[in-house]
Amino acid sequence: MADTTLMDKLVSLCKRRGFVFQSSEIYGGLGSVWDYGPLGVALKKNLKDRWWHAMVQARDDIEGLDAAILMHPKVWEASGHVAGFTDPLVDCKHCKNRFRADDPRIKGTPGQPDAQCPVCGSRGTLTEPRLFNLMFKTFMGPVEDQAAIVYLRPETAQGIYVNYLNVLNSSRQKVPFGIAQIGKAFRNEITPGNFIFRTREFEQMEMQFFVKPGTDVEWFERWRAWRMEWCEGLGLTPAKLRFHQHGPDELAHYAKDAFDIQYEFPFGWQEIEGVHNRTDFDLGRHQQYSGKKLEYFDQAANERYLPYIVETSAGADRVTLTVMVDAYREETVEGETRVVLGFHPALAPIKAGVFPLVKKDGMPELATDVYQALKPRFPVFYDDSGAIGRRYRRMDEAGTPFCVTIDGETVANRTVTVRHRDSMKQDRVALDQLEAYLRDQLAL
Ligand code: GAP
Repeated sequence: MADTTLMDKLVSLCKRRGFVFQSSEIYGGLGSVWDYGPLGVALKKNLKDRWWHAMVQARDDIEGLDAAILMHPKVWEASGHVAGFTDPLVDCKHCKNRFRADDPRIKGTPGQPDAQCPVCGSRGTLTEPRLFNLMFKTFMGPVEDQAAIVYLRPETAQGIYVNYLNVLNSSRQKVPFGIAQIGKAFRNEITPGNFIFRTREFEQMEMQFFVKPGTDVEWFERWRAWRMEWCEGLGLTPAKLRFHQHGPDELAHYAKDAFDIQYEFPFGWQEIEGVHNRTDFDLGRHQQYSGKKLEYFDQAANERYLPYIVETSAGADRVTLTVMVDAYREETVEGETRVVLGFHPALAPIKAGVFPLVKKDGMPELATDVYQALKPRFPVFYDDSGAIGRRYRRMDEAGTPFCVTIDGETVANRTVTVRHRDSMKQDRVALDQLEAYLRDQLAL
């Protein structure tokens, strides 16, 4: 399968099965903004829950937070985003298109007579590069003037930094400890694309770990290993995961060291999560801009210091895409192609399909009872339309790990068939053992 074809097939499956839709589609769509349908929202929620469980619930040293998207505009001056969160852009004076200055399709040097517009082909029409800030701006209150400008946050991290003392003072935590948050972020990306890989509105799953200066390198290494383990635990193909260390020209203004966890997408190796040693840059800048002391007092050692921060930052949408790309496969079964999303059971939006083999002989009634009994326990889907083989295929495409079929034998001896998505093997399970059986198989 050609790699671009895989992305095209996935985008089409996402729309057909209700994973992801284009935003405002009936109006022609909005560039690089996407909506999640019933299966997509469940998949992304399962992923976020798994992250929250690993980062907050299962640990004693991390607290959760949900900070607002809108923040005091000074936050973004302190963070460096007003001055530095920019991309160099060039405009074509002829066709009015806009490009990143480093767009590989541009021939020649923008601003010079030899430079050629990659869209209309005109020469000498590209402007000199100008810096363009990627933050979305809006106005707070009724007056739309400079003083009323607020930004939609381009990362969730800053909400954590400005709340670090609040969390510290209201919890029992001591350094080293972390604060985790899942939330929306917005970037007016100039070259968005590849479906939900790079979008203008997206969700981040970020954790900021506050450590004593001098212990940052060892914590950085720990977090790097833990985050790779988490990615592998999603069932992603290990050979398609790797680390990429930022070179000096790639490091963000706040970082002393940074590693990306990359995945090999059909469009190449790309970052899905970053692990950054942000030093005391952020707390130092917020201390300076707010005039409030943000130092930590270590009672045991009787010393004061500004903690260093080790950050782990993953995109919920990007990891959702990764999970879907990795799970997609086509197989030939008895001369027919079946499309399977082989999701890890914990991520699968629907855990089991429930089917009566035929719509008679008491099977629909029994199947409805089974469905109603399972539904409060985990997401299940009832389907009695079409041949049983077609119902299996529909569940394969939705990534459902199990299908439970109620047949003639169920009526006679109260057992059902449980069909496994990946191996397609079928087990006979007693009705009164079904929930426990599924629970065990799903490892819930
Ligand atoms: N707080 C640090 C930070 O935001 P980043 O490398 O700019 O670092 C972290 O972003 C993660 O957020 C990325 O690894 C990616 O998964 C996700 N992300 C960033 N920009 C994105 C975009 N435009 N669309 C979707 N996800 C994005």
